[in-house]
Amino acid sequence: MIAITEQNHAAGRAFDSVAEAYDGLFTNSLIGRAQRSVVWKRAAALFPAGSRVLELNCGTGEDAAFLASRGVAVTACDVSARMIEQAQQRRVVEGGGGSVEYHVLPSEQIDELPSQQFFDGAFSNFSGLNCVSDLSDVAGQLAKRLRPGAPVLFCMSTRFCVWEMLYYLAKLDTKRAFRRCKGISRARLGPEAFSVYYPLLHSVSRSFQPFFRLRSVTGVGVFVPPSYVEAWAERHPSLLRLCEKADAIVCRWPVVRVLGDHMLLHLERV
Ligand SMILES: C[S@@+](CC[C@H](N)C(=O)[O-])C[C@H]1O[C@@H](n2cnc3c(N)ncnc32)[C@H](O)[C@@H]1O
Repeated sequence: MIAITEQNHAAGRAFDSVAEAYDGLFTNSLIGRAQRSVVWKRAAALFPAGSRVLELNCGTGEDAAFLASRGVAVTACDVSARMIEQAQQRRVVEGGGGSVEYHVLPSEQIDELPSQQFFDGAFSNFSGLNCVSDLSDVAGQLAKRLRPGAPVLFCMSTRFCVWEMLYYLAKLDTKRAFRRCKGISRARLGPEAFSVYYPLLHSVSRSFQPFFRLRSVTGVGVFVPPSYVEAWAERHPSLLRLCEKADAIVCRWPVVRVLGDHMLLHLERV
């Protein structure tokens, strides 16, 4: 187990500063909903009612609430105390069935969960794992908590997002257009800067070996654009729906599936 790092502190403080606005900016946006619906479809198929799922970087708890409403018992963790507060408030306001337990905990410290807690699956949505510098350390800790055959579903930002490159190149902003291509960039939320990592698919898969095997990869946001194009989506809802239909066709195609905004990895505990 590793100690909480300056990177954890920085990411935690950064997401603290946007926790209250996060649902308005992303969760409830047309694009956020379109991208999340792809993840929910896979999550619903992999995590049946009655299973116990560990959710890493749960943010404001949108996915935990979804899984709990389907009878999944969720242990939801996030490094940002304000995000966890938002998630807890959501449960109070919205109610909702099922069971969710919250922990302010970085993904790098899964070992700190109570030692008797084991899970039937694990889940991480929308790039929380892109804030982790050493995925193999997370893999080792996660492996100790999962039974053989347990499904794991991770949605991570890709290294190459064609939409992003074209969008920023059209604005002559080459720095933003290629910000992911080096594999690491500095992001800023509020006053706080932190590192974001963009590992390639084979590198993520390697980090999770030998404990996990990759079962499938689905592109999320190939034609559907990144969330900062929300104003366009609001002006053209029928085009967005067309993009969703196009994504449903191409999302499993080799190469294409890792050129969108996110890639959805289904792994399995060996
Ligand atoms: C883009 S948000 C996604 C939130 C949520 N999963 C969703 O789908 O809306 C990324 C989340 O990752 C969390 N995060 C970043 N680094 C983390 C770390 N090292 N451990 C745990 N959570 C982390 C942030 O606090 C933030 O809530």
